[in-house]
Amino acid sequence: MKDCEDVVVYIMPQKIQKQRHRVMKMAALKHHFTLAEEFSDNVTHIVTEYEMADQALKVLKVTELPQHAHLLKVSWFTDSIKAREPVQILNQHKIPLGDANVDSRQKSETPPPNHIPEFSCQRSTPLKHHNAKFCEALELLQDYAEMKEGDDNYMRALAWRRASCVLKSLKFTLTNLNQLKGAKDIGRHVEKILQGILDHGTSDEVERVRNDPWYQKMKIFTKVFGAGVKTSQEWIENGMTTVDEVRQKYTKGDWRLRFGLAFHDELMQLVTRQEADNFKEFIKHQSAKILPDVSVELCGGFKRGKTAGHDIDLLFTHPLKGKELGFLPQLLSILENQKLVLCGKWNRSTFTEEALYSDSKRTKNSQLDHFEKWIGIIKFPKQWRKSISPEELFNDRGESVPLSPDSCEDLEPSKKKQKTDDELSPEEIAASPRNWIARRVDLIVAPYDQYFYALVGWTGSKQFNRDIRTYARRTHNYAMTSHGLYDLTKRKSLPAKSEKEVFDLLGVPYFPAEERNC
Ligand code: CTP
Ligand code: MN
Ligand code: MN
Repeated sequence: MKDCEDVVVYIMPQKIQKQRHRVMKMAALKHHFTLAEEFSDNVTHIVTEYEMADQALKVLKVTELPQHAHLLKVSWFTDSIKAREPVQILNQHKIPLGDANVDSRQKSETPPPNHIPEFSCQRSTPLKHHNAKFCEALELLQDYAEMKEGDDNYMRALAWRRASCVLKSLKFTLTNLNQLKGAKDIGRHVEKILQGILDHGTSDEVERVRNDPWYQKMKIFTKVFGAGVKTSQEWIENGMTTVDEVRQKYTKGDWRLRFGLAFHDELMQLVTRQEADNFKEFIKHQSAKILPDVSVELCGGFKRGKTAGHDIDLLFTHPLKGKELGFLPQLLSILENQKLVLCGKWNRSTFTEEALYSDSKRTKNSQLDHFEKWIGIIKFPKQWRKSISPEELFNDRGESVPLSPDSCEDLEPSKKKQKTDDELSPEEIAASPRNWIARRVDLIVAPYDQYFYALVGWTGSKQFNRDIRTYARRTHNYAMTSHGLYDLTKRKSLPAKSEKEVFDLLGVPYFPAEERNC
């Protein structure tokens, strides 16, 4: 093939995982390819994960490439590494041209049929939309890719999700693939799935995954509180097929898993909006006694308008920064005294200024933050499950009614417990007579100067966060987290005094939480 000497390769870091980028560069050097650290005139082969040339050119800050330069897919690079030398450029290696290469006259005559902004955070994405059956299929493929390990699968999972998000933001039901012309994130593979559904109502590939026994088991196991992909895989490798079986045979695991397994069935019954509202009112009442003017906000799916969810996310702050210190342990001890805590873990804040910009070091998948928080399971008195008046929620002393969910007054005397819950195993507690149901709860405390970023982060969706953070980085070289926005060029943080200001600083149109269901 081409003499190595003539070839200068530049691997665009954008859209490529840092670690993977490093591995690619090392492979190139091992085979003595000439690598350029930056794009310049002597680069001959530009390798990129961008799917359209116009996107890449924009990032390279050029309107067109020099004659000798080629814009190539990563497949050219991997083929070359396999061949141990730069291989000939085939059609399949080339990046298709995008808008930038269409001349302006043509451009103005044929505007894209529907202009769909690139990032989901720039689009309104309601909870109820017009393309549920397509999105269900694409997100099943996302789910499946997420269960399989490795960077490639992670990227695949993201690609399915992004495509689904495009469909969720459409104001009409898809009837023809032409309606997606001009939309980023709709690749060939996505088109194939969508065409299958348009033609036959289903896609073979999706149905194969849906019926895959491994997928079915993973789907159940990964929903267990405390069980991630790794643990679930381990259970399957050990021949387990149901949560019941795991409960009997699997004795390892931290507190999350032990309680997650013991209370799995009821944790699977979704928390209703009514329950979340009752709980918030109760917590607000208790909180005000400890710290007047404390703010309590219901975040997560409920804030986005969902009527049910897998947990209750409550975010706390106080307008006078510093006042929030010490609040959560006090609240937790009230909950403990009222015997409302089944299990949980309190973590102190691990925030340092560095967390504002060194965020890229975090693992790809998590949106972990450094707030003080409590993650656990609350014993939800059964009364809290229905619509109740404040008098029914509290007694005169402001305590929850019933005083303790363990109170067995309405249970037959013979069924009264002999031991307290501290002396019982999670399974024994689950099997004992009780007046409560287990509910997953997250309690998060944000200092006021980080609050509006925390609010956006804890409202989600997860995909909305991913996209707005990528948007911040790509468009402004800002690092965005639940703690703040940091200008990496000017090395300074950008405080916000409202949720709207967060969007304004980014130049993203403000969408209410109900339209962030990406
Ligand atoms: N989140 C976060 N840091 C975490 C956990 C969650 O920033 N350690 C964010 C998530 O990205 C999400 C929001 O907080 O946007 C709520 O998380 P979660 O309760 O897991 O998801 P929900 O969207 O609320 O879904 P559900 O209604 O099923 O609870
Ligand atoms: Mn939630
Ligand atoms: Mn949560």
